[in-house]
Amino acid sequence: MSNEQSSANQTELQDKQIEERMSLIGKKIIVMSGKGGVGKTTVTVNLANALADKGYKVGILDTDLHGPNVAKMLGCEKSTLESPDGKTMMPIKVRDNLCVISLSFAIPDSGAPVIWRGPMKIAAIKQFIGDVEWGILDYLLIDTPPGTGDEQLTAIQSIPGMTGSVIVTTPQEVALLDARKSVNFSKKLNLRIIGIVENMSGLICPHCGDVIPLFGMGGGVELATEAKVPYLGRIPIEINLRENEDTGKSPLEMNPDSESSKALRSIADLLDSSTEVGDPNDYIGTNKCSPASCASCSSNCSSREK
Ligand SMILES: Nc1ncnc2c1ncn2[C@@H]1O[C@H](COP(=O)(O)OP(=O)(O)OP(=O)(O)O)[C@@H](O)[C@H]1O
Ligand SMILES: [Mg+2]
Repeated sequence: MSNEQSSANQTELQDKQIEERMSLIGKKIIVMSGKGGVGKTTVTVNLANALADKGYKVGILDTDLHGPNVAKMLGCEKSTLESPDGKTMMPIKVRDNLCVISLSFAIPDSGAPVIWRGPMKIAAIKQFIGDVEWGILDYLLIDTPPGTGDEQLTAIQSIPGMTGSVIVTTPQEVALLDARKSVNFSKKLNLRIIGIVENMSGLICPHCGDVIPLFGMGGGVELATEAKVPYLGRIPIEINLRENEDTGKSPLEMNPDSESSKALRSIADLLDSSTEVGDPNDYIGTNKCSPASCASCSSNCSSREK
């Protein structure tokens, strides 16, 4: 067999394996943003925890190969990858109902840079999709680096039946500009946009409780309205959120009543209901249409205006 033939066979085998593994997973959601540092990993990790709290089986796939932070935020960065047969990788179990795979588990030195070009990254992500024993999951949440490049394209094009994207932005103009690119990227790839999340939406002062619009407020809703896509909600800036993430603790568990925890849980509820019923516009006028759905609905129906 020629080299070309054998590599074509390998690709075919891998595609088949990806299809089999992904067919066991309910909803596959990619979290994106054109801009760095706006809270993609924060949203991914906390939505995953919130969905696991609701009793769902959840997996996280970290495709941020150059700056993988998922494991650190989940407090499992010391874990290492195991492969019983030298090929299949076992995801790291974070808690009941929550597992994760990240390149950081394969690189013991957290300060070592990953210096890879596109093809290496594409191959690694495809391995994370096809060679990992994900098992049966309700949700697979995919964290991504900033931008609309190899990582996002590989995940979207390799995962059959991708449910849609969640786009994270902060309210300020530069972030919105970049988030708009993720909106258009999703549209170009015919990927459903589940909704936009406005993160870092006002800083809640830990002393007086007043809200300081550090990066402005309301830009996420404006972008959702302009792009005619659902809006999932806003998360304020809170010191407890950052502190918990820095120490690998779950803000939802440590500070369940904080405004950011409440916001994250309500976004998880919306994500759950909106992905259950398909396009939000589908449930207008049906018994699934309820006031709780309004925030994720892009219709102009009269009940929404009340
Ligand atoms: N609402 C918030 N309140 C307080 N801190 C936050 C909030 N959202 C994110 N952070 C903190 O801001 C930092 C950046 O967030 P995060 O890593 O989630 O962003 P990112 O978009 O994934 O970044 P990157 O583009 O580097 O992957 C983290 O330290 C995180 O804990
Ligand atoms: Mg990140």
